[in-house]
Amino acid sequence: MDRPSDTAVSHHLFEAATAAMAKAHAPYSRFPVGAAIRTADGRIYAGANIEIASYPEGWCAETTALGHYVMGGGGQITEIAVVAERIARITPCGGCRQRLAEFAGADAKLHLCDEKGIVETVQLGDMLPYGFQGDILR
Ligand code: THU
Repeated sequence: MDRPSDTAVSHHLFEAATAAMAKAHAPYSRFPVGAAIRTADGRIYAGANIEIASYPEGWCAETTALGHYVMGGGGQITEIAVVAERIARITPCGGCRQRLAEFAGADAKLHLCDEKGIVETVQLGDMLPYGFQGDILR
């Protein structure tokens, strides 16, 4: 915790993402990823990627975390941390950017991490310009 954007509270979210990454089921890619979501009232929902032998049917760490978030009651997302074992500063894939954008506001913080902590913090809204707006479906 020695970097400007790595406050104690955000560092705790990084640690939750790292703990989740340890539970990744990634026998095919051997690319463990962890993600953690914090809500305004302080709850944390974390998840790891889960792969299956039918490769396209596996899913990302962010998706697991979002599943826990929804099952836990949802709420306002204030920050998200993502970490991968084999790459520093991982950024969510396109599909996960869309998923995250549908549950978190554009001003939610997205922390990109390495094995020590947060490397860079961006606004979620900057990660998916011109993303699909599903409002018309409601
Ligand atoms: N993966 C994630 O969990 N999150 C991302 O944002 C990018 C990719 C996973 C999916 C797959 O299990 C592995 O990383 C390799 O693509």
